[in-house]
Amino acid sequence: MKLLIEVARTPRQLDAAFALRYQVFVGEEHYNLGSAHLNNERYVDVWDTLPTTFTLAASVEGKTIGTLRCVVESDLPMPHGEHYVWHRDKVPPGRACLMGRLAIDPAFRSHGLGILLQEVACSYLRSQNVRYVYGIANLRYKSWWERLGYVWIGEPVPMPGVEKMALHAHYLDLTGQTPGFSALDYCAAPQVFTGEPSWLLAEEGDVLCEQDAPGDAAWEILEGEVAVLDRSGSKARDLARLSVGQVVGELSLLSGAPRSATVRVASKKLTAVQIDKKRLQERLAGDASMSSRLLRDVAMKLRHSPPRAEEPA
Ligand SMILES: CC(C)(COP(=O)(O)OP(=O)(O)OC[C@H]1O[C@@H](n2cnc3c(N)ncnc32)[C@H](O)[C@@H]1OP(=O)(O)O)[C@@H](O)C(=O)NCCC(=O)NCCS
Repeated sequence: MKLLIEVARTPRQLDAAFALRYQVFVGEEHYNLGSAHLNNERYVDVWDTLPTTFTLAASVEGKTIGTLRCVVESDLPMPHGEHYVWHRDKVPPGRACLMGRLAIDPAFRSHGLGILLQEVACSYLRSQNVRYVYGIANLRYKSWWERLGYVWIGEPVPMPGVEKMALHAHYLDLTGQTPGFSALDYCAAPQVFTGEPSWLLAEEGDVLCEQDAPGDAAWEILEGEVAVLDRSGSKARDLARLSVGQVVGELSLLSGAPRSATVRVASKKLTAVQIDKKRLQERLAGDASMSSRLLRDVAMKLRHSPPRAEEPA
C-alpha cells in the first residue's frame, strides 16, 4: 500500500480534508458546529484561513484517510475562542504551533497513522524552528497523547456545544526527546527535495511509476531501495537499483518524455519524499539551491549509467 502524507494545497485536497474532519468530529464525536457547517458538511473555520496554517492530508490512491492541522504562530494575532485556554504562561518560551483537528478515517485506525501524521508535522516544524506544539484534546484520548510525550496543563475545560465533553490543553516540547515517534527517526533527512513535507511510505512490490506512462512525480529515497526495470522486452530487465540519498523519476518530469522505465519498491519498506511536476517546476524556478542539487544528481546518474548497446563504449 502506498501512503502519501503531504500538505493539502489544492481546493480538492482541502475539501476532502474538511469533509473527513466533519465526518469524524460531527458524525462520530457529535461536535455542534452550528448551521453554517451543516449546509455543506465541511468542518472549516477562521484558523484555516491564516497564512501560517497548513493542513496535512494522508491519502491512499487519492482517497483522503487522515488529516491534521498546524497553525504556526506568527506576528499576526491569533483568533480567540472562549474555550481555547492555552495556559501560554505555563509552557516554555519559544515559537509555538497550535496542532489539532486530527482525524483518521475509522477504517484506517490503529495502524499508526495518527502518530505518523504528528511525526511528519513535528519533523517539519522542528526544521522551521518551532519550539513546541500545543493543543487541546478530548479527555477520552488522554493516554493516547501521553504515550507520545505530551504534557498536560491546567484544568479540563468544557467545550461549548458539545455535551459531556471536557477538553484538556497539552503541549509537546520539540527540543526534547520524543520517544513516542519512531517511524521517521531512522530516515535520512531529505537533501534535494527539502522544504514542505510530502512523504511517500510504500511496501515491497509497490510500483512508483510504469514505463511509457506520463511522468507526474519524482522521489528522493530516504529509506529502502527501488529497482529500475526495463519492461519493453518479453522479460523485465533489472537496469539499476537506487537507494538512500538518490533521486528517481525526475528525468521524465524535466524532459516531458514518458517514463523510460518502471520503478518498483525492492525493500520491505520505502520512505521517500515525493514531489509532483507542478511543484517541481515552481521550486526549480524559485530555489536556486534545489536546482543545483538536482543537477548534481542528474549528472551523477549520467556518469554512472552504462553505455547503451548502440553507442560506442
Ligand atoms: C485519536 C485518533 C486520531 C487516533 O488515530 P489512529 O491512527 O487510530 O492512532 P494510531 O494508530 O496512531 O495509534 C493507535 C494506538 O492508540 C491506541 N488508542 C486508540 N484510541 C485510544 C484512546 N482513546 N486512548 C488511548 N489509546 C488509544 C490504540 O490502541 C493503538 O495502540 P496500539 O498501537 O498499542 O495497539 C483517531 O482515533 C481519531 O481520529 N479519533 C476521532 C477524532 C478525535 O477525537 N481526534 C482528536 C483526538 S483528541
